[in-house]
Amino acid sequence: MGYKEVYESWKRDPDAFWMDAAQAIDWDRMPSKALFDENAPLYEWFSDGLVNTCHNAVDRHVEAGNGDRTAIIYDSPITGRKEKISFAELQTRVAQLAGALRQQGLEKGDRVIIYMPMVPQALEAMLACARLGAIHSVVFGGFASNELAVRIDDAKPKAIIAASCGLEPGRTVQYKPLYDGAIDLARHKPEFCVILQREEHRAELEPGRDHDWHDFQEGAEPAACVPVEGNHPAYVLYTSGTTGAPKGVIRATGGHLVALNWTMKNMYNVDPGDVFWAASDVGWVVGHSYICYAPLVHGNTTVVFEGKPIGTPDAGTFWRVISEHNVRSFFTAPTAFRAIKREDPKGEFVKKYDLSFLRVLYLAGERADPDTINWAAAQLGIPVVDHWWQTETGWTITGIPMGLEKMEVKIGSSGVPMPGYDIQILDETGKPQGPGELGAVAIKLPLPPGTLPTLWNAEDRFRKSYLDTFPGYYETGDAGMIDEDGYLYIMARTDDVINVAGHRLSTGAMEEVLAEHPDVAECAVIGVGDQLKGQLPVGFICLTKGVNRPEGEITAECVKLVRDRIGPVAAFKLCVVVDRLPKTRSGKILRATMVKIADGTEFKLPATIDDPAILDEIKVALQSIGYAKD
Ligand code: COA
Ligand code: AMP
Repeated sequence: MGYKEVYESWKRDPDAFWMDAAQAIDWDRMPSKALFDENAPLYEWFSDGLVNTCHNAVDRHVEAGNGDRTAIIYDSPITGRKEKISFAELQTRVAQLAGALRQQGLEKGDRVIIYMPMVPQALEAMLACARLGAIHSVVFGGFASNELAVRIDDAKPKAIIAASCGLEPGRTVQYKPLYDGAIDLARHKPEFCVILQREEHRAELEPGRDHDWHDFQEGAEPAACVPVEGNHPAYVLYTSGTTGAPKGVIRATGGHLVALNWTMKNMYNVDPGDVFWAASDVGWVVGHSYICYAPLVHGNTTVVFEGKPIGTPDAGTFWRVISEHNVRSFFTAPTAFRAIKREDPKGEFVKKYDLSFLRVLYLAGERADPDTINWAAAQLGIPVVDHWWQTETGWTITGIPMGLEKMEVKIGSSGVPMPGYDIQILDETGKPQGPGELGAVAIKLPLPPGTLPTLWNAEDRFRKSYLDTFPGYYETGDAGMIDEDGYLYIMARTDDVINVAGHRLSTGAMEEVLAEHPDVAECAVIGVGDQLKGQLPVGFICLTKGVNRPEGEITAECVKLVRDRIGPVAAFKLCVVVDRLPKTRSGKILRATMVKIADGTEFKLPATIDDPAILDEIKVALQSIGYAKD
């Protein structure tokens, strides 16, 4: 069947479609139906089934006689280490770790925060939680103590599993001061921590609280898989919203397994045994879905890559990994390609490697600019597929399902809707728009299996953020249009979320930090266009009356404050002092207009603007940092 037939078959009978997809999963008790809509507009999938994620990702492959196949390839150009772990080895390691965690009192439903770099043990920790039915929440290593503390207080974990350090080019990131700081700041205190000591830096363990990863597993009874209900949360992943408080996206177990497994062949066109590589980080949704769960559930080999697209050691690293490990399908963010293109515009490194195994390059996480796509396609000589999704959905909303059909790729579009997604473009009143017309991108409810059922501890926020604006729809927060052929084009966010190097960040969160500086009376943070990272945050601060210290001193403190509070990942390095901020007469800061001035795009003077002269001051300030060029 081609794409159209498959999409139509889903539309005709969604329950039959998803129950059929569910056959590919090993259930301890088959669910009686797919959709549970008793609490609409809150929906659940496969709720009365019983299943275990770790069994499906690991044990079942061993039981099927494929224990010798490689489950994980660890390739770390930053340390020079490489390792291959078979499914059978992974089973032993994960069962042992789960057994040790249980010995410490961890049970089904308990939360565990995982704060680890790109090492195989990060996946083992996730799978060990899944084995017990414990709910993990992985926090990206580039976040600072305060962000970790916010997540600890929301998730209330019984345990934290961390490493002693992460490795960034030219610097060792010691994790202990970060999680110690977070535990100090948080009101909730975890009962115990498990620390993986890395050679590059060993942490001083806290007696009574911290356990060494290896020592605490000794003598533990390996744990069997605990079947959980289909609607049991597999994990909570925090993502940026419009305010400083991150949203805890819940992933329910049954739908997660069914949907991810479906994508591996149909979207990414890999068969069990093929090597699949998503060059992301386990701290992001791409890492959850496509470094850890989907490839393993589907019986693929996944690559855990600890390095950067450039500088570890050069712009040929990706090609080396692809050729050395025979990667079939490769997934990364456009930023990575922009970085490689900048260092190696003629593709000299590409020519050095045999990339004949690679069939398709998939891009997501931010808008893929046509220049980058064209360059990548020309260098690699394979289709480049841009696909669009969010932490909330956990898998592709629109894309080109290469395993179903080699459809036309349209540059600038992120493809066509996957089964399960009925996408509409709506105007402000909720009226559906025609082909080519711009509007808010909304998805008709229910969302498919694998997407978020609600937010952790925050059902009201879930309704307010996603369901209330357009009744009957999920509001994506993205704006765009659909063309005559049904291809979607994502143009911009409709909220204050920005995307920096494929990392989703909240300008609101940065504003909350800046506002805490004693010399800052008022502030605004916007995302301006950047050649490499797509967007970069720029802060505007108005000083408190009477402050007459050098402005450079204050802006440097502001930059440090954001780095200390949110983390280096915020990439907040540009901050300027202005006398006033442009506002509407009702006092709303005109951030969108400021972005247009910075990027040099045309804009209409907002009719409600209080004092247009302020825009000239903003332009001068932006010019002082290299933006708003005439
Ligand atoms: N732990 C600690 N610090 C981290 C970190 C981590 N896991 N990840 C990033 N950081 C730090 C970086 O070291 C950098 O610090 P600096 O300000 O001291 O230089 C800062 O956070 C900003 O990082 P980043 O925005 O990634 O910039 P970069 O200059 O280090 O690298 C790219 C630029 C393009 C090479 C890099 O962003 C990249 O590989 N992007 C791919 C995007 C991606 O995989 N996205 C995932 C979603 S699919
Ligand atoms: P995240 O939740 O971190 O995956 O970020 C999701 C957001 O990133 C989306 O809502 C979009 O704004 C943006 N995004 C992700 N993929 C794409 C894409 N292919 N094209 C354009 N924007 C994208």
